[in-house]
Amino acid sequence: MARHLITSAIPYINGVKHLGNLIGSQLPADLYARYLRARGHEVLFLCATDEHGTPAELAAAKAGKPIDEYCAEMHDVQAEIAQGFRLSFDHFGRSSSPQNHRLTQHFAGVLADNGLIEEVTEEQVYSKVDGRFLPDRYIEGTCPNCGFESARGDQCDNCTKQLDPADLIEPRSVISGSTDLEKRETKHLFLRQSQMKDKLDAWIESKTNWPVLTTSIAKKWLHDGDGLQDRGITRDLNWGVPVKRGDQDWPGMEGKVFYVWFDAPIEYIACAQEWVDAGKGQDWERWWRTDKGADDVTYTQFMGKDNVPFHTLSFPATIMGSGEPWKLVDYIKSFNYLNYDGGQFSTSRGRGVFMDQALEILPADYWRWWLLSHTPETQDAEFTWENFQASVNKDLADVLGNFVSRITKFCRSKFGEAVPEAGEYGPAERALIDDLTHRVARYAAQMEAMEVRKSAAELRAIWAAGNEYLQAEAPWTTFKTNPDRAAAQVRLALNLIPLYAVLSAPFIPDASTKILEAMRVDDTSWPDDVSAALARMAPGHAFEVPEVLFAKISDEDREAWAERFAGARD
Ligand code: 2FM
Ligand code: ZN
Repeated sequence: MARHLITSAIPYINGVKHLGNLIGSQLPADLYARYLRARGHEVLFLCATDEHGTPAELAAAKAGKPIDEYCAEMHDVQAEIAQGFRLSFDHFGRSSSPQNHRLTQHFAGVLADNGLIEEVTEEQVYSKVDGRFLPDRYIEGTCPNCGFESARGDQCDNCTKQLDPADLIEPRSVISGSTDLEKRETKHLFLRQSQMKDKLDAWIESKTNWPVLTTSIAKKWLHDGDGLQDRGITRDLNWGVPVKRGDQDWPGMEGKVFYVWFDAPIEYIACAQEWVDAGKGQDWERWWRTDKGADDVTYTQFMGKDNVPFHTLSFPATIMGSGEPWKLVDYIKSFNYLNYDGGQFSTSRGRGVFMDQALEILPADYWRWWLLSHTPETQDAEFTWENFQASVNKDLADVLGNFVSRITKFCRSKFGEAVPEAGEYGPAERALIDDLTHRVARYAAQMEAMEVRKSAAELRAIWAAGNEYLQAEAPWTTFKTNPDRAAAQVRLALNLIPLYAVLSAPFIPDASTKILEAMRVDDTSWPDDVSAALARMAPGHAFEVPEVLFAKISDEDREAWAERFAGARD
């Protein structure tokens, strides 16, 4: 039994996330956490809301609410939706927690003590009408790179280039629309990442087993252009972690806060403290401090590709630069984007299916299965309603659902609602057990390697193997001439059902629970020995025919949903 710390990128607080966000980190992280728990490992799976920065402030202003109130409400909304999708976080924290405030100020303090923070007086855009500086998303204008007219101060949504507010052409205030802007001097703290370039470079080079998507982005940032730049880690904003040096005031930095990307990853650590403080666990240091037992923890992070630079370079720079024995990430699984029906999902434009809307339409398992089996791993993927309908109807309803319903109903009609006793297994049964033994081992290897799509494909093949066996052996025909032989076939097929439930639980946890309840099986241990697992329901074991597991999506539903989601969300 090993110990695994798993974190998912923490979603911004500014509204309900869309399905692209979900498959870009939280859902695959949940799959992995569930799998490792099923294998008997000790897992701490953490996520939180990312509550600082201009996206949070702007969303609160739009909602007409004080920011702290807005964040508290939205945190609860996101927590409830996460529950709805069965995301099995051990704790869903908040980056605005007192724990994160203290820890962020602590890191800033030790980084400064180690000479890794520089105080820089620079010019920033100031709006006279608004009476304030306009960092990041408080300013919009034309992108100097692609000419897009609504580029934000921190990034262009059109060409994804990272920007500085001062780069924008014809800039305007997002608050007042004012173009009466000027540059004013202001003091900020910079993290001297460039000092740590060689160390970070060597560390990334040593990660030869990381996904290419992760290392290629990290290497690009390390080597392209001017290489790794020092980075401003403070902002002229009110909402955020106040700039302090440990618990001391920082002269000249009064009224400023840390930049959201400085405090957000630190929340991964603070979240473990929140987990303990909420009475859900003990000893967070055992997960995070290598001097307190975390040296035998394997730490895996999940995230979308846009988050990779912050996790491969900036956050490790914070950790390494502290000189303290904090746990560094062991493996970073990153994802490409999921697109929506010929375009991009977009939070700001309300385009695509959002998590709350998805659950209004169908239960979580349907979405989990489609999303995970189409995870954008090697390239961007696309959600279309046709594809969604086809996958649900074929994989879930026809292959898995139909298998379960067909064999349980047949048994009920011929032998009653208990596992039949007669008959012996023959070559066909032995061949199936052999085939499944290999397939289950391959499935476990793919899950272990976090190859999400390949795992889904192997699981689908395992379900299909049961159908093919039934198709070939046809107990309904055998029964007419040799009822004992049919009984043996039914006994094996019935035993496939709890096997499928256990193997499928990380993908479709609700269906799995439903199946195990109907089959009255409590033993959910991993089928290390497939042959033994297929004897879980002994002759005479009573069961019930489960209710329909997966309803098919009709063409009318598909068309209605496609139309409903064609426009922007209101
Ligand atoms: O891209 C995002 O949604 C960010 N809120 C992710 C932050 S991850 C972290 F905590 F570093
Ligand atoms: Zn652009």
